[in-house]
Amino acid sequence: MLPTEFDFAPLLEYVKDIIPQYERDDALQIISEILRENVPHYDWVGFYIVEDKPDVLELGPYAGDPTEHTQIPFGRGICGQAAIRKETFIVQDVTQEKNYLSCSTAVMSEIVVPIFSAGKVIGELDIDSHSRAPFKEEDKQFLETVALLVATLF
Ligand code: SME
Repeated sequence: MLPTEFDFAPLLEYVKDIIPQYERDDALQIISEILRENVPHYDWVGFYIVEDKPDVLELGPYAGDPTEHTQIPFGRGICGQAAIRKETFIVQDVTQEKNYLSCSTAVMSEIVVPIFSAGKVIGELDIDSHSRAPFKEEDKQFLETVALLVATLF
């Protein structure tokens, strides 16, 4: 029997409900937690924000283990590369990626989705997974929709 696809629709409704009710960082914290708790292959979920320093991603709200990567310049790691590419960057096997900042040896794969305002990257949604090659088109579409929605909070 084929495994059932994960149904992102109820989670998306939840995210839509949260956004108008909270300040930015509270909303991002709640969204990080509900994504991590509900999607089996999301083991670390967090936001990086470009705020005080130009072209530097600063760690914002997240759910999962603490990370040493609290400041990431554009270009460094998977997060920094996504900021320069200005598009979603999926790495299905982090051992194959040379420009990678490791948070934990348990992490096998990562997806990073930029958040935009007026064409500029103002933040990112970053997900680490302990599974190899877990990210599908459905993840990309769901997370890009979440990134569009949360952009209204900035
Ligand atoms: N692995 C990321 C660093 C951030 S952590 O995943 C939370 C990277 O290579 O940019």
